[in-house]
Amino acid sequence: MIDALGEIDLANPDHYVDGVPFEWFDRLRHDHPVVWHPEQPPNGGFWAVTRHDELDEEQLQIRNSMLETDPPRHTEMRKICSKRFSARGVGVYEDWIRDVARGVLDRALASGEPFDFVSEISRELPIRFLCSIFTVPQEDAPDLIEWGDQMIANQDPDLSAAVVGREDTEEYRLLPFRSPTARKVFAYADRQRDLRLAEPADDVIAALVAAQNEGVLNEREYHNYFALLLIAGNETTRHTISSAMLALAEHPDQLQLLQDEPDRIPRAVEEILRWATPVMHFRRTATRDVELRGMQIRAGDKVVTWYISANRDEDVFPDPYRFDVTRTPNDHVTFGPGGPHFCLGAHLARLETKILFQELLPRLRSIEILGPVERIRSDFVNGIKRMPVLIQSP
Ligand code: HEM
Repeated sequence: MIDALGEIDLANPDHYVDGVPFEWFDRLRHDHPVVWHPEQPPNGGFWAVTRHDELDEEQLQIRNSMLETDPPRHTEMRKICSKRFSARGVGVYEDWIRDVARGVLDRALASGEPFDFVSEISRELPIRFLCSIFTVPQEDAPDLIEWGDQMIANQDPDLSAAVVGREDTEEYRLLPFRSPTARKVFAYADRQRDLRLAEPADDVIAALVAAQNEGVLNEREYHNYFALLLIAGNETTRHTISSAMLALAEHPDQLQLLQDEPDRIPRAVEEILRWATPVMHFRRTATRDVELRGMQIRAGDKVVTWYISANRDEDVFPDPYRFDVTRTPNDHVTFGPGGPHFCLGAHLARLETKILFQELLPRLRSIEILGPVERIRSDFVNGIKRMPVLIQSP
């Protein structure tokens, strides 16, 4: 490690198992807001960008990712699905989501016994919704969950078959998340395409298939798009819901406030999103030379923008380590800093989180975290994989 960083090593997933190393991010924001961060070979290192005001799309011009594509091509790809994920597009599902949320909560809370909040509640809602907009059988949900987990949590031996950084994953280098599980997802995507070709449908997969037929997507892009939606729509919202429950349990005054004044829940969702920051960073490649805080970034350099740090930037969020469900304004970068890649599923994630807590809080007389709260081993996703709780209903 170079002197500027000292012991700081943001690229080692072990450092996130007991909690996000917020002290390191604090130090970097203050002393080295843009710093070169070396890595273990074969990776070549990256620029770590940790302050909120540095995450400006136009200023940086370093994005090149649908997540790996620049406009105008990116615009063409995003258009395939964008209407379905607009506020109006997901709004039509509001009643349906509420029904599903009620069903999930009924089942989880029925016995009054301790249970794992992640597997019984947080994991259920996003995947059920995904099955619905994909129009695939709800019975496929367990497979989709397992595949998504294996891909996104590819640094966690508990979840992934081929742990990146520990095993030789060279063979999977060209697959999303360097994960062999991507092949299962692609095969599933192929089966779904065959079904759409045999019988016309009006769903997200049909839109992707049509785009492929029209030559807007090639085979690889169809696969990657499918995998992106599966992963992005599933894990992230799950971790938001789990983190929210943990934060509310640890801040009973905030929980009480929302129970007393449920109209505050939509605003509270923004603080929940800031607090949770399930996607801790994105890694891009500079497309041109750029100077940032006096540091010379060259075209081709890797740049990692740390949303988890920007969301605790004291220059933007007064008292950033205070969980305050009334925080206004709340200019978090949990869905990205804006610009063409801003999260396609932001409306959906907000809607799911809002509805879940609107339905859960009235049914919650008390909550006890029985622990231990187990976190995913990852420097990318800020996630909880198990959280045993005891919830008592009124
Ligand atoms: C709380 C939940 C979620 C979080 C924290 C999250 C976070 C993010 C972030 C940080 C980005 C990159 C933004 C950027 O680089 O500017 C992104 C992009 C994306 N997200 Fe989400 N996401 C969430 C939920 C969802 C959902 C439910 C879907 C829907 C299936 C989704 C689909 C996507 C897609 C397709 C992109 C790529 C957009 C593009 O490149 O144009 N996300 N998300």
